[in-house]
Amino acid sequence: MKLSINLDHVATIRQQRKEGFPEPYFAAIIAEKAGIDGITLHLREDRRHTNDNDVKILKAISKRLNLEMALNDEIIKIAKSTKPAQVTLVPEKRQELTTEGGLNIAKYKDKLAKVIKEFRKLKIDVSLFVEPDKKTMDLSKEVGADIVELHTGTYANAYLSKNKGKIEKEINRINKAVAYAHSIGLRVHIGHGLTIDNIQPFAKNELIEEASIGHFLIGLAIYEGLENAIKKMRNIL
Ligand code: PXP
Repeated sequence: MKLSINLDHVATIRQQRKEGFPEPYFAAIIAEKAGIDGITLHLREDRRHTNDNDVKILKAISKRLNLEMALNDEIIKIAKSTKPAQVTLVPEKRQELTTEGGLNIAKYKDKLAKVIKEFRKLKIDVSLFVEPDKKTMDLSKEVGADIVELHTGTYANAYLSKNKGKIEKEINRINKAVAYAHSIGLRVHIGHGLTIDNIQPFAKNELIEEASIGHFLIGLAIYEGLENAIKKMRNIL
């Protein structure tokens, strides 16, 4: 399984002081050296952490940039001119601390189909951040997505609750969605709330192409350094 690191968290620390430190691009250089497969940045409408300049620099220095974004016309325009390897479309709410759930594909079906077509014309892979259920996989395929990133946040919360029944239920739900998505020709990623412990049940699933991880890796980097944190996670995958 490949690993993409989300560097929004570095920008979040920078924005607490607005003094240009620490910089996501410096973390990206370390991550690339540690053998990361991709870098993810979420350019939010309100620019609360990363900004347009981060996106430009990261596109220039990273092997594979995944731009996470809402279905917002201004950000779509930036994505089209930046041409990252991949975009991941996510729902965005002004008050949320982090992305809280998957995209409502049925609600934005027409716009999604149009935008996905435009991105694919530019040879940008399109991933949709979605809930792990069959109907959503079918809708993702219908609107033309290349990839589904299955939201693992509910599973991560179940893991924290230590409730075995809840954990098993979420693992099964994700595994079923992985197998179904793969069977209808979608590439499968997972992300949100993943850690070195809770990723174990999925680590050897060959149908999952990539894990997208931010908070845990940046947190572990405080204790052990970014290079070690990435290497530790990569060993498990
Ligand atoms: N994938 C998506 C679509 C996300 O929105 C996020 C959070 O920014 C992540 C993965 C990474 O989640 P975490 O920071 O909990 O590892």
